[in-house]
Amino acid sequence: TGLITIDPGYKNTGSTTSSITYLDGENGILKYRGYKIEELAEKSTFLEVAYLLIYGELPSQNQYEKFTREITTHTLVHEDIKKILDGFPSNSHPMGVLSSLICSLTAFYPESLDPNRNEEEVNLSIVRLIAKIPTFAAWAFKNKVGHPVNYPDNSLDYCSNFLKMMFALPAERYDPDPVVAKALDQLLILHADHEQNCSTSTVRIVGSSQASIYASISAGINALWGPLHGGANQAVIEMLEAIKADGGDTKKFLDKAKDKNDPFRLMGFGHRVYKNFDPRAKIIKKAADDVLGKLGVNDPILGIAKELEEAALSDPYFVERNLYPNVDFYSGIIYRALGIPTDMFTVLFAIGRLPGWIAQWKEMRQNNEPIGRPRQIFIGETNREYVSMNKRG
Ligand code: CMC
Repeated sequence: TGLITIDPGYKNTGSTTSSITYLDGENGILKYRGYKIEELAEKSTFLEVAYLLIYGELPSQNQYEKFTREITTHTLVHEDIKKILDGFPSNSHPMGVLSSLICSLTAFYPESLDPNRNEEEVNLSIVRLIAKIPTFAAWAFKNKVGHPVNYPDNSLDYCSNFLKMMFALPAERYDPDPVVAKALDQLLILHADHEQNCSTSTVRIVGSSQASIYASISAGINALWGPLHGGANQAVIEMLEAIKADGGDTKKFLDKAKDKNDPFRLMGFGHRVYKNFDPRAKIIKKAADDVLGKLGVNDPILGIAKELEEAALSDPYFVERNLYPNVDFYSGIIYRALGIPTDMFTVLFAIGRLPGWIAQWKEMRQNNEPIGRPRQIFIGETNREYVSMNKRG
């Protein structure tokens, strides 16, 4: 079996070669297919970036129009999915609902269970996923608030359609605010891929068993849900609200985060790979100021976040450990300003990350990677004599 080395959390283990996302943690550089994240966030749309990640090149005008047309063709979901949605209690966390609805696509499109489908068939599943995830996400929210669901409006762009499905009320006109739609689109771009993180590795490892693409993506959504990963954006706002409710003493919470006997961590701080700064956090911090300014929102929580960041960045504990704000630190503040409820933040992360998961799944498949199957070093008992129940102590 050879020599097995243990690497908890796979901190120093490369699981694959990849040509999708370049990440330089020392210098805070992030590029998708060679393009700087800063430039993509400023100049591209989310669907353009999705195309880039999945097919490897920025689309031509024709390719882009064809791709968006394909996406809008598939935004509607099977009516029976509403029955599945109705089965969830109205207080269900939308992440659980989202992963379940995505997994239910295996039942509506059972051909996805065939690992030997051709590229065209696989492509249809990819389009279906990108097209339907905003519908599922908005429906998960509607279920939570107990309102009737809205159907997609294919005359709108990707984010405006999502906003309408989220916020339109029966018999009321709803025109998505272009400032809100643009800000959302930019956030989705910033979340679109991040190489072999926890959820992406999950998607690749589930996919490596040749499970359906829908099952693999559903597994990724569940991995993203945790507070140490995508769930951090929800946890950051809950933390900032707790600081505000407690009187706004940021130092008290910094001390708690430093206390090794206290499980509390400064949410939205620290990263496995970035050890200088997270380039996404830089863009998002600036966007938070811009968006709140444009919308005329004055959120006291932004002030607390800035104070907390400043205090942490000059605190030896955080400096020595290279702990900086990550993508989740300021994103929640923008989502709040856009009117998105807190427990939908991670759902938005999932919508943004979907093209990355798909691109990584596709790469894993194209590389013909073997099934993901780590080894272990066994440290338990190896030789015990069976004791019948009446003789056990
Ligand atoms: N607050 C306080 N201490 C921290 C924090 C934090 N947020 N993050 C790391 N540390 C300490 C940790 O206790 C350890 O200290 P020591 O060396 O004394 O034991 C040291 O820094 C190294 O931390 P680690 O846990 O070994 O680092 P990791 O690479 O395993 O974890 C992380 C990375 C992101 C899980 C972690 O920094 C963390 O829990 N951050 C808070 C949650 C968060 O914001 N997650 C979002 C990550 S970015 C986007 C995403 O993935 O979704």
